[in-house]
Amino acid sequence: MTSAIPDKQSLLAKLEPYGQQHLLQFWDELPDEGKARLAHQIGQLDLPLIQSLFLGEVDQPDWAELARRASPPQAVRLSERSEGGELGISSEAARTRGIESLSRGEVGVLLTAGGQGTRLGYDRPKCTYPIGPVSSASLLQIHIEKVLAASRRYGVKIPLYLMTSPGTHDETLLFLNENDRFGLPEADLFVFCQGTMPAVDVESGKLLLAAKDSLFQSPDGHGGTVAALASSGALEQMDDRGIRQLFYLQVDNPLVPIGDPEVIGIHLLAGSELTSLAVAKQTPQDKLGNFVSIDGRQQVIEYSDFPEEVAELRDEQGELKFWAGSIAVHVFEVEMLKRSLCESHTLPFHIARKKVPHLLPDGSEVSPKEPNALKFEKFIFDLLPTARRPIVVEFAEEDCFAPLKNAPGAPKDTAEYVQEMMVEQHHRWLQAAGAEVAENISVEISPRFALDAQEVAECITPGRVFSEPEYLVDERL
Ligand code: UTP
Repeated sequence: MTSAIPDKQSLLAKLEPYGQQHLLQFWDELPDEGKARLAHQIGQLDLPLIQSLFLGEVDQPDWAELARRASPPQAVRLSERSEGGELGISSEAARTRGIESLSRGEVGVLLTAGGQGTRLGYDRPKCTYPIGPVSSASLLQIHIEKVLAASRRYGVKIPLYLMTSPGTHDETLLFLNENDRFGLPEADLFVFCQGTMPAVDVESGKLLLAAKDSLFQSPDGHGGTVAALASSGALEQMDDRGIRQLFYLQVDNPLVPIGDPEVIGIHLLAGSELTSLAVAKQTPQDKLGNFVSIDGRQQVIEYSDFPEEVAELRDEQGELKFWAGSIAVHVFEVEMLKRSLCESHTLPFHIARKKVPHLLPDGSEVSPKEPNALKFEKFIFDLLPTARRPIVVEFAEEDCFAPLKNAPGAPKDTAEYVQEMMVEQHHRWLQAAGAEVAENISVEISPRFALDAQEVAECITPGRVFSEPEYLVDERL
């Protein structure tokens, strides 16, 4: 084992040209195991890339300039869904096509759960968060049960591709095992781990140590999904199973209409390689990425990069010109993901200033109060400009978007907010089915009972009264 550890000199030879030799400052006091860990991490580093990112040599787009010449994206608005808008794809035609593809087993679900959940301040992986308003079901359970419910409805086994990161992987696997994968057959679950990126000091560009024998590393962003799908063998497995489309979502949003046949149908009938769900922004300041079209290519510009005067623009009807807010739910054509791996321009890194705890040269630990470091992340929506015929499909926010991001006390996106949104949706479904729900109680519907309003209507007798909190979970699965 010891012979596999590179000697200090060869590591120094790699680090010195980039001024990163401080990473070895505790080398002599490390046991062999620690030396092996650190040497491995150093071996993985792409130092020229990290240096160029720090020096700003990697081209960062001029978002303000791009936003000023952007136009709204090609989209199917909610009000046009039944007729199909300019694409002429009616709801009915889309549903039929979507159901056909789902029933043939061509659709898989891709769930990313590698984030660190820093804002939430929950000390376990976010996927384990007990969000069910009555049931305390975890986010992961809710997503898995939706996949199972869609499998049941379309009479096929829909595979789930679940992405973790080194910080969430082991605990997520344990959680799945302890709960028998919430009923998902082993053969239909593919768990894979995303890559990491180190962080550098904001002033000096020096890499930060988390411990004497290890670099500070964080997940490489949801854009890391593409490379991780390839390196894990998931793409090959999709080929073997005949999976052609992937329904992508992120673990923090329990309202996602997983496998929605209308969206999948629009995606297929329009020949789109990447279809995205969007909600209409309520105000120009909404903290959502903006779907725009620039030089015929679709793109998301983050709210922080979107100039105020462009966000404020309105059309002749007085509606926001740039209305389409991203909720990070997409349908990808698998072939497009494969192509994007081969294309020379891989996804760019975004740079963010963050507070990163690390070791000082004297070996003591510091937890900065102000952002002290640059982190580098890839974003999945940067695939958009490479997609052919991309389309945005508008959904009502209350039917698709309630992400768990923040600790209690924040105005939005807290557990309380998410639970309220879930309960309101389930009550709407019950009321549409002719049931009565007493005020100030919560009825939660498990996807095992019904996946959507249509299934609720099939199994609730009109006139049924709910006067106590209840968790509807009758097994159909
Ligand atoms: P966010 O950037 O909001 O991260 O990504 P987060 O972990 O939820 O929260 P903060 O920013 O640390 O407070 C949204 C979702 O994208 C996925 C996770 O599912 C996350 O919930 N994600 C993000 C990954 O899978 N990997 C990543 O590297 C980043």
